[in-house]
Amino acid sequence: MPVLVKVNDGRVSIVTGGARGIGLAVAKALAGDGFAVVVGDVDEKGARAAAEAIRAGGGRALGIRSDVTVAADAKALVDLAVNEFGRLDCAVNNAGIALGVKPMAEIDDESWNRLFATNVGGVRNCMRAEIAYMLGVGKGVIVNMASTLGVVGSTGCAAYVASKHALVGLTKAAALDYAKAGIRINVACPGPVLTAMAQVFLDGNPKALEQTEAAMPNGRFIQAEEVGAAVAWLCSPASSGLFGHALVIDGGWTAI
Ligand code: NAI
Repeated sequence: MPVLVKVNDGRVSIVTGGARGIGLAVAKALAGDGFAVVVGDVDEKGARAAAEAIRAGGGRALGIRSDVTVAADAKALVDLAVNEFGRLDCAVNNAGIALGVKPMAEIDDESWNRLFATNVGGVRNCMRAEIAYMLGVGKGVIVNMASTLGVVGSTGCAAYVASKHALVGLTKAAALDYAKAGIRINVACPGPVLTAMAQVFLDGNPKALEQTEAAMPNGRFIQAEEVGAAVAWLCSPASSGLFGHALVIDGGWTAI
């Protein structure tokens, strides 16, 4: 979907894992709302292409290789936003990974630790760098990317479910720590979106796609753009009353 930039109002954002999927949709939605966007991703080519797509639509963006599991990379993203665009108003900590489907006791240590290092440790690294800057200017907005699997369980993905529940908890605790400092921290919890990651859950079960659609109260997957729009709202002053809030965008999945 092309980016339609409404107005360049000087605000600046970071999106981690913004090369593709939900992160790319978030980056485009923020650019459409007037934010300059720094796209970070381990996929350098993808990050640069995402930024190029935003610039082609009239927006301001830079793409850079950045690994959220490396604290220095997380700080470098903040520095890049401030040095190139002059400030940082909001950050969307979206980068995350999933494992293949396996019962809990069969998940090996290496996979478990890698997943937690990314989905929880990565967001901690990013929030530490972002909060350090935001405390200095006395304001800022952070949105973390959990999942409906951060508020309910599911079979075959215990590590992912545990990491996203941890992320919802981390968001609530951090939101309380910094609410009076002018920093607003919330967490988005999307239902299933057909991205490269969703393929991990669908692989090996040819009926999974149609079973997932049938189980959705709205009868379909969530669109990445629907998550992008919700996250852009969480980044905007229109959501100024929300602190430590887990916003589900799930077609009714958790309402059942
Ligand atoms: P995706 O796999 O399509 O995209 C993830 C992006 O993150 C990729 O560009 C990847 O290169 C990047 N990435 C991975 N590890 C990284 C690291 N260490 N540092 C920086 N970048 C890294 O995944 P998708 O579906 O777009 O997911 C984005 C986020 O949304 C994830 O946190 C995921 O857990 C969450 N989510 C996804 C849902 C889905 O159904 N696809 C549903 C709910 C939440």
